[in-house]
Amino acid sequence: MTTTTPEEVRRVACIGAGVIGGGWVAHFLARGYDVTAWDPAPDAEVKLRRLVDAAWPALIELGLADGASRDRLTVAATLEEAVADAQFVQESAPEKLELKRDLLADLDAATPAGVVIASSTSGYPMTDMQTTAATPGRLVVGHPFNPPYLIPLVEVVGGERTDAEAVAWASRFYDVAGKSVITMRSEVPGFIANRLQEALWREALHMVANGEATVQEIDDSITEGPGLRWAFMGPMLTFALAGGEGGMAHMLDHFGPSLKSPWTRLEAPELDKKLYDAVVAGCDEEANGRTIADLVAERDQGVIDVLRATGRLNGGKK
Ligand SMILES: NC(=O)c1ccc[n+]([C@@H]2O[C@H](COP(=O)([O-])OP(=O)(O)OC[C@H]3O[C@@H](n4cnc5c(N)ncnc54)[C@H](O)[C@@H]3O)[C@@H](O)[C@H]2O)c1
Repeated sequence: MTTTTPEEVRRVACIGAGVIGGGWVAHFLARGYDVTAWDPAPDAEVKLRRLVDAAWPALIELGLADGASRDRLTVAATLEEAVADAQFVQESAPEKLELKRDLLADLDAATPAGVVIASSTSGYPMTDMQTTAATPGRLVVGHPFNPPYLIPLVEVVGGERTDAEAVAWASRFYDVAGKSVITMRSEVPGFIANRLQEALWREALHMVANGEATVQEIDDSITEGPGLRWAFMGPMLTFALAGGEGGMAHMLDHFGPSLKSPWTRLEAPELDKKLYDAVVAGCDEEANGRTIADLVAERDQGVIDVLRATGRLNGGKK
């Protein structure tokens, strides 16, 4: 593996500079890195610089790292030039399996030995993408959310032939580079957040298709409802509070049976003792000593903050 530590990285290459690759470029520039980008489209550089310029005011507001500058972006003429002295590579090419396979093999051939190469793929397992690379051990998934310069989350996971060390290195690097990292232990298709989004999405499409809710009603049901809480407290702790003073245990006792009610088209898991205990214990662990009352106060303050931030403090309406 690379002898460069995640803390020592100064030069990053971004391969593919569309919506996500361009977003990564903006993020890494704002964090003070030298960034080299490559994209085969003839108008790629113009579009990339436009994207970075559009993102920059928000990045200034969030706070730039010392020395951060748009002048530290270089657009390379070839893939080989882009990665020649890279200390980390982020691939964000189109979501086509054959293309990703070939591109990752080419990147692996051109990138200095030991440097970690991450793919922004939305759902392909690295196991399926690393099949033709000569040294697949350094290939990981680093799945961002759009736009990568504002949404902190990145999900990191390796494939069957990825070295555990490369996964750990990538996770640490993203952390140092200002991202919120979830390191996955197995290659679950769609990773974590997209599976959750997908479940909501399927249900929303069922409702639209059946004429049960309009698109507007579906969007309002989230932005005027649970979405306000989800910006700062996830679905698990949010539901723990639905159990009142009894927390998640009471919530499961009370609403467990409704898992079998026709509230969703997705097949519900069996709520056996193991799952019950894991969910209750997970909530306790996440609460980390905070009482239900503490969490209620935190949630309420969070809702107020989100309402203020989105210009809805006055009555909470749009
Ligand atoms: N859009 C999202 O919300 C989102 C979120 C997370 C992850 N992703 C993933 O990010 C990746 C990029 O998606 P996007 O939305 O930025 O797509 P996009 O179409 O906006 O950008 C893709 C870019 O790749 C370039 N390209 C084409 N062939 C290439 C090649 N052989 N090598 C390098 N670059 C090439 C294109 O010119 C284009 O600029 C995909 O894997 C996608 O699944 C997308």
